[in-house]
Amino acid sequence: MSQKDKQHKPWGGRFNEATDEFVEIFTASVEFDRRLYHHDIAGSIAHATMLQKVGVLSKSEGDQIISGLQQVRQEIENDQFNWSVSLEDLHMNIEYRLTEIIGDTGKKLHTGRSRNDQVATDMRLYLRDEIDALCGLLLQLQTGLLDLAEREADTVMPGFTHLQTAQPVTFGHHMMAWFEMLVRDLQRLQDCRKRVNVMPLGSAALAGTTYPIDREFTAELLGFDKASNNSLDSVSDRDFVIEFCAVGSLIMTHLSRFSEELVLWTCAQFNFIQLPDRFCTGSSIMPQKKNPDVPELIRGKTGRVNGHLVALLTLMKSQPLAYNKDNQEDKEPLFDTIDTLKGCLRAYADMIPAIVTNKSQMREAAMRGYSTATDLADYLVRRGVAFRDAHEIVGKAVALGIAEKKDLSELTLGQLQQFSVAIDQDVFDVLTLEGSINARNHLGGTAPDQVRAAVKKARLEQLALRNQ
Ligand code: ARG
Repeated sequence: MSQKDKQHKPWGGRFNEATDEFVEIFTASVEFDRRLYHHDIAGSIAHATMLQKVGVLSKSEGDQIISGLQQVRQEIENDQFNWSVSLEDLHMNIEYRLTEIIGDTGKKLHTGRSRNDQVATDMRLYLRDEIDALCGLLLQLQTGLLDLAEREADTVMPGFTHLQTAQPVTFGHHMMAWFEMLVRDLQRLQDCRKRVNVMPLGSAALAGTTYPIDREFTAELLGFDKASNNSLDSVSDRDFVIEFCAVGSLIMTHLSRFSEELVLWTCAQFNFIQLPDRFCTGSSIMPQKKNPDVPELIRGKTGRVNGHLVALLTLMKSQPLAYNKDNQEDKEPLFDTIDTLKGCLRAYADMIPAIVTNKSQMREAAMRGYSTATDLADYLVRRGVAFRDAHEIVGKAVALGIAEKKDLSELTLGQLQQFSVAIDQDVFDVLTLEGSINARNHLGGTAPDQVRAAVKKARLEQLALRNQ
C-alpha cells in the first residue's frame, strides 16, 4: 500500500492539517473493502449511465467515465492497481484512479450520490451474488445427501434419543433428516435475498439529492427488484447483513450437528461409518490415529460465525439515524461469515458422497439396547392389551433379557409368554429389525419405502428449484 500525497484527500477542502498517520490507518477500510471492487464499479457504471440519461452528465462525459471505470476494473483484476491507505476506502481509491485516467471528468462521477448510499449498494450487490453461490453449494450438498439416502435406504441403524438406543431407523432416513434441515436453510437464504435485493443508491448522504435522478432506472440496470423507500433508512440499515448472518449461523449449527454425529460414528466404539482418508489426518505421536479433522473443524468454526452475528447485532443496537462510521465494521464479520460458510459447505459437499457405511456394525448396534421394545408393546396393544399394561409387560421382558444377556428376539416364546398370554409365535416378526422399520410405513416414517419416496419427492422439488 502506498501513502499517496495527503493533498489528494477528496474531502480535504476544510482541513488545515494532514490526518494523523495512525488515524489514517485506523480509519481506513481499503485493506478489507477492496473485495467489493467488482460491485462498486458495477454500481458506479449504473450510476453514471443514469446521470447520462437524465442529462446531469453529457453523453461524452458519461462515456468517458464508463470506459475509465472499465479500465480501473481491468487494472484491479490484473493486479496492477496501486491501493492506497491514505485514500481510506475502495470508493475513493477507485475514483482517484478514474480521475488519473480520464482527467477532471472523473470528478463528476460522485454527483448525486454519497459514499453512504454507495457502500450500502455495494454490500447488497455483493451479498446477492454470494447468496446465489451459497445456494448452489447447498443444492450440491443436498444432492449428495439424497444419493446417500437412496443408497442406504435399507441400511438399519439404531436411532437414539438422549443418545440412548431408542428404536431402529434406516441410515437413509437419518440422512433425510439432515436434508430437511438444509431445505429450510436454502429457503431462508432465498427469503433473505428478497430483502437484500433492494437498492439504496440515490439516498445520497442521508436526505436524497437535488439532482433529477431516476432511481427506478438505476435499480433496473443493477438487477434490483426495486429502489428503497426512505433515504435515512437506506443508508443506515444493515438488517440485511444481520439477517444473512443469522441464516449463516443456522447453517453452521446444522453442519455442526452433522459433524458431531460424524465424529461419534467414526470412533471405534460406534464404528458406524468411515470417512475417506483424504478428509482425515493422523497424529504425530499415535500411529493408529485417523482423526476426523474436517468435521471437527467445521463444528469449531460454528463459534466464529455465531460470534459474527452477535458482533453485528451489537454494532447496530445503539446507532442513531442515519449513517455512522460504525457501519464500516459490518464488513469483516460478513466477509468472514461468507468465507467460512463457503469452505464448510464445499467440504461437506465433497465429503458426504464419500461416506462408507459399516452395515453389519450398525445392525449389531441396533440389536443391542432393546430397540424393538416399543414394537413388542404395539404388538400387545394390537392384541387387546392396554398400552400402559403392555409397557409394563415389555419392561419385565427387557429386564429378563438384560439378566440373560439376550435381545428380545433371542428369548424363547415360552419365556416371553410368562409375561403375557397374548404373545404368540408371530411375535418374532415384529421383534426383528426389519419388522420394526418396515412397520413404520407412513409419510415421514423410517421404512425403506418411505425413504425412497421421500428422496424421489425431494429430487422433483430440487429440479423445480433449479429451473426457477
Ligand atoms: N468505508 C466506509 C464504510 O465502509 C464507506 C462510507 C464512508 N462514509 C463516510 N461518510 N465516511 O462504511
